[in-house]
Amino acid sequence: MKRKEFLRTLGLSSAALWATYCLGSCKTDEVKPNELPADGLTLNLNNAAYSSLKNNGSFVVIQDQKIVVARTNAGVYVAVTRVCSHQQQEQIAFVASSSEFECGAHGARFSSTGQGLNDNGRNGLRTYRTEINQAGDTLKIFNS
Ligand code: FES
Repeated sequence: MKRKEFLRTLGLSSAALWATYCLGSCKTDEVKPNELPADGLTLNLNNAAYSSLKNNGSFVVIQDQKIVVARTNAGVYVAVTRVCSHQQQEQIAFVASSSEFECGAHGARFSSTGQGLNDNGRNGLRTYRTEINQAGDTLKIFNS
């Protein structure tokens, strides 16, 4: 007896069967919760892990907080979630040539302000406010 037939013998409806099959494997358009600590995050740009952010057109992925921090070609710091709003893949990266964010999973594209630029990006991308200190070596990423 196959799994579906077995479940039917238990009296489960089609909707219940679908839910059973879907648990843990189906994707939704839900945006994952904010991964940043309540007081945000501070990056020391003198640290080798983040020093590339002193250069225009660069970006780093901070895996623990699931964020991407970029410095655009115009020298503006931008922080966005690494989790795509299309199907929640953690594949957002910065594309320096266009100053856009792009998802490697299905090609969703987002502006540097998080606005969707194509159909897969239509839900936009969560952005975080950033602030660089006067010396240019400490970048604060706010949880807002
Ligand atoms: S999950 Fe990013 S484009 Fe589909």
